[in-house]
Amino acid sequence: MEKKDINWSELGFGYIKTELRFEAVYTNGKWSKGELIESEIIQVHEGAPALHYSQECFEGLKAQTAKDGRVLLFRPEMNAKRLIKSAERILMPVVPEDLFLEAVHQTVKANYAWIPPYGSGASLYIRPMLIGVADNLGLSPAKEFIFRVFVSPVGPYYKGGGVSLISLAVSDIDRAAPNGTGSHKIGANYAGGLLATQKAKELGANEALYLDAAEKKYLEEAGSANVLVAMTNNRFVTPKSKAILPSVTRISLMQLAEQEIGLAIEERPIHLQNEIKEFIEVAACGTAAVLSPVSKIWFKNRWFNFYDNGQSVGPIMQQLYHLLTQIQKGEIEDKYKWTQEVVI
Ligand SMILES: Cc1ncc(COP(=O)(O)O)c(C=O)c1O
Repeated sequence: MEKKDINWSELGFGYIKTELRFEAVYTNGKWSKGELIESEIIQVHEGAPALHYSQECFEGLKAQTAKDGRVLLFRPEMNAKRLIKSAERILMPVVPEDLFLEAVHQTVKANYAWIPPYGSGASLYIRPMLIGVADNLGLSPAKEFIFRVFVSPVGPYYKGGGVSLISLAVSDIDRAAPNGTGSHKIGANYAGGLLATQKAKELGANEALYLDAAEKKYLEEAGSANVLVAMTNNRFVTPKSKAILPSVTRISLMQLAEQEIGLAIEERPIHLQNEIKEFIEVAACGTAAVLSPVSKIWFKNRWFNFYDNGQSVGPIMQQLYHLLTQIQKGEIEDKYKWTQEVVI
């Protein structure tokens, strides 16, 4: 099968229309079987709860071409489970894991020509989404729902690409309340963060970095990625909070840090002001961000620089980036059984 004529290595992180997407609908209490369709447009009623009250949740994962040509997904069952949790939190019918995985496999396979080749630095981003549709003016759950999966070839999320350095700016805007929806991947969490991202960019940073909303002391996460910190004494720490998204990438990297590099991993509250002096290497991580080393953080009206005064990528983050991406691209043995092949 021919690939599209695209300059894969020049791709940024944006939407490119591909031929086919998967759609299933939920009416009268049950899901349709689902099918591949051509149109990228979704027609919904003007009274749809997705439009007014953000009754919407979504996922993000990637397919990559391995060295031997196989097409690999990374831990897609974790995305399926997270979408179930998101749906339950905002009173939507869950998409059964089987339907989720079937939709992802079918959509990736149907758009084979759009999957970036091995070694291009690009991948196929997969966006499953679940929206509440049909008329409903009052504040109550929708009566009908659409589950859709579309894909787009993408390059690096942050400019620079690969394992290049980014910077973060601590935001005075809160992302998520302690007992709110921050740990779920729902659209409502993101609109409120657009202003924080804009302010961070005005300061010259790539993204906003949030503190906990209750005390404004503890590190939470970045706008679209979790954070990791290599600290003194071999410690490798990630924030513990009820309000952050449980990132598939972070869970995987923490395991690699412990089992492959032998670091002492900790998931606990990180008091930014008290502990920032002990930060040696910092990174943002996620499906889109992969592992992006953080050179500096804007906090209390000044920049704090990390490894090599923010000039280069530290050895721990470098090593973790390579381990993760080598597994994702089938370059080393997948001993944790994290990848899943899409049979083309
Ligand atoms: C707010 C937020 N945190 C973290 C992540 C990373 O999660 P994952 O590694 O599952 O992609 C994402 C999405 O990529 C996100 O939107």
